[in-house]
Amino acid sequence: MTLGFLGSGNMAAAMARGWAGADSPPAEMLFTDRGSGRAAGLAEELAGGPAGGADLSTEALGDNAELAARSDLLILGCKPADLERVASGAQVSSAVLSLLGATPVARVAEHFPEAAVYRVMPNLAVELRRGVLCLATNEAPAGDAVAGGGADSGGGGTAGIREGAVRRGDLIELLGQLGRVHELPESNLDAATAVMGCSPAYLDLFVDALAGGGVIDGGLDPGLARQLTLEAFEGSLALIASRKPGEVRRAVASPGGSTEAGLRALEENGFAEVAAGAVRASLERMRGAG
Ligand SMILES: NC(=O)c1ccc[n+]([C@@H]2O[C@H](COP(=O)([O-])OP(=O)(O)OC[C@H]3O[C@@H](n4cnc5c(N)ncnc54)[C@H](OP(=O)(O)O)[C@@H]3O)[C@@H](O)[C@H]2O)c1
Repeated sequence: MTLGFLGSGNMAAAMARGWAGADSPPAEMLFTDRGSGRAAGLAEELAGGPAGGADLSTEALGDNAELAARSDLLILGCKPADLERVASGAQVSSAVLSLLGATPVARVAEHFPEAAVYRVMPNLAVELRRGVLCLATNEAPAGDAVAGGGADSGGGGTAGIREGAVRRGDLIELLGQLGRVHELPESNLDAATAVMGCSPAYLDLFVDALAGGGVIDGGLDPGLARQLTLEAFEGSLALIASRKPGEVRRAVASPGGSTEAGLRALEENGFAEVAAGAVRASLERMRGAG
């Protein structure tokens, strides 16, 4: 399969790197950009696949029309505001996968009337094939088989789908190489994004803040503080997932102990409200863009 990345920024690069390292990488990945050179950089970085084999062919192209014509799946990795401009120069009659935040599939489909249009919201951990990917369910093209047992998967038909265009089941398999795929009604996608799409940034900030406390108040070496925090997070996330909500913090915080004191400081400073406020602010921004 040939994947065409229209836009070679942060998310496109993370997905491309994830697929390049997958067990069965796509045969070909093509890239464009708006002139930054990121497309050429990615094509060079990923040529041959990570093991240096010859299984994966990559190429940076100079124009979006050629990209669209050569791709089985055109991946829209530009910003939502660029949609109109890029669509006018990149008509496709096969399939389009939109990564555009806060942009309904119907709006993308208006610009690609001949194509099967899908919408997914990935997070940046797709680069390590440990991402979370929320695929909107209600845009399945008419007559398309739905893999993965997703509920609520009917929806508007898309006329004129090219013979051999990427089907939903194939797409779910392809996305599954990058992490866990959840099929969600499109009405849930913005809220899901505010939680799973933004989480890598929030955790990054939390790691720095916690490790910084170990440096400033405890005198730890910055590199060691970061390493200890990351290792603790990694194991703790698996543990939290294996227990009931709240169970782990109750098990760590013995009465009168140091964790209890730390939890109280977080509570007194409104930590839960602050975290929920981040989700609210992201959602408000998405609704403003909609
Ligand atoms: N970053 C995330 O974690 C994340 C998560 C979920 C969804 N998304 C969605 O993914 C999309 C991309 O986000 P991003 O963070 O990757 O943005 P980004 O790093 O700014 O990348 C945008 C890319 O689009 C390219 N572009 C713009 N106009 C173009 C045109 N006419 N032709 C070809 N390429 C064009 C840019 O080219 P230049 O390199 O030349 O500027 C750049 O490579 C957004 O819609 C966002 O909502 C991002």
